[in-house]
Amino acid sequence: MNGVGARASRSMLVRVPTREHLIRRAQPGDAGAIGAIYDEAIATGVATFAVGPHDADERAVWLAARGERAPVWVLGDPGGVLAWAALAPFSHREWYDGVAEYTVYVSAAAQGMGVGRVMLDHLVSEAPALGYWKLVGMILEGNDAGLALARGRGFREVGTHRAHARVGDAWRDVTVVELHVEEDL
Ligand SMILES: CC(C)(COP(=O)(O)OP(=O)(O)OC[C@H]1O[C@@H](n2cnc3c(N)ncnc32)[C@H](O)[C@@H]1OP(=O)(O)O)[C@@H](O)C(=O)NCCC(=O)NCCS
Repeated sequence: MNGVGARASRSMLVRVPTREHLIRRAQPGDAGAIGAIYDEAIATGVATFAVGPHDADERAVWLAARGERAPVWVLGDPGGVLAWAALAPFSHREWYDGVAEYTVYVSAAAQGMGVGRVMLDHLVSEAPALGYWKLVGMILEGNDAGLALARGRGFREVGTHRAHARVGDAWRDVTVVELHVEEDL
């Protein structure tokens, strides 16, 4: 649990839990919290190209539609959900079947305390059992925390797509990061 708990004293409000105890597969009842955390990140303008709002009903439909190889996990404490993370197939092409795109979202109140690290480590450890050999992340320009998180977990920076998509009217570059999760590579 590198880092988790070490900086927990920064917040009196959030008790940062350990991965073993509190990461679980998302349930329909988590949909509202997942949507709220997502919308909080969307408002920063650097986390995702997605557009909100995402309420509980919309996220419940989204959760239910995800296949076995597109799981969502949440990390919670008795006060509620602090973070969610997901894997999804990177491409519809069968030869990229072992490549997944990862997503990690931590509520603003719980950021900077190691939760992102715990969630990304969880995705890396779960990926092989789902048939994935590589995780890829797409990090928008200006997302310093997203890039630091990936680098800190050993992801390699592949390169940067220029003007890859738009947030509102503004073109954004996207840096691609990757980690091969096959131990024998
Ligand atoms: C990116 C995100 C998941 C990081 O989660 P977090 O819990 O705040 O991050 P952690 O406390 O685990 O820190 C992870 C690393 O990022 C660094 N970091 C955290 N916040 C940072 C910031 N604002 N600027 C630069 N680096 C930062 C930490 O120092 C740490 O680095 P280290 O592993 O080398 O020590 C979180 O900021 C978030 O949810 N952002 C919105 C969604 C998003 O952008 N997701 C990433 C793309 S999928």
